[in-house]
Amino acid sequence: LSSIRVDVSGVEPGTQLTVKWLGKPVFIRHRTGVEIDEAQKQDADGVDALPDPLARNFNLNADAPATDANRVMPSPEGEAAGAWIVQMGVCTHLGCVPLGDAGDFGGWFCPCHGSHYDMAGRIRKGPAPENLPVPPAEWTDASTIKLG
Ligand code: FES
Repeated sequence: LSSIRVDVSGVEPGTQLTVKWLGKPVFIRHRTGVEIDEAQKQDADGVDALPDPLARNFNLNADAPATDANRVMPSPEGEAAGAWIVQMGVCTHLGCVPLGDAGDFGGWFCPCHGSHYDMAGRIRKGPAPENLPVPPAEWTDASTIKLG
């Protein structure tokens, strides 16, 4: 896989950066404490009840469940757990680019056919069959994420 390094030092909490990797958009979101709480609350219904109960995180085993903790990056020192989420910005229905801060679950919304993703990028409503995939990603220092 070809890899890229992304400087995320300018990504304030509550905003996201979209970069291109392998020709596809990748969403890098810096979540606020409220967003993290909200995403963890969205676990409360039980991940088995989700349309897609799997984490779809390249960095974990294929059978890892879709908890919020299994969808986020490990946090750099000094940041709350769950502060960063990295995922492909490609709807798992037919490949449109979902919009951020949108939809019934406060996460992402795909306007093409109405798929609603929650704050952990998990599909909650609409035709998309799977959660937004989490690509290979790791920190190379406290403000740089390597994709691929
Ligand atoms: Fe996103 Fe169809 S491509 S809902």
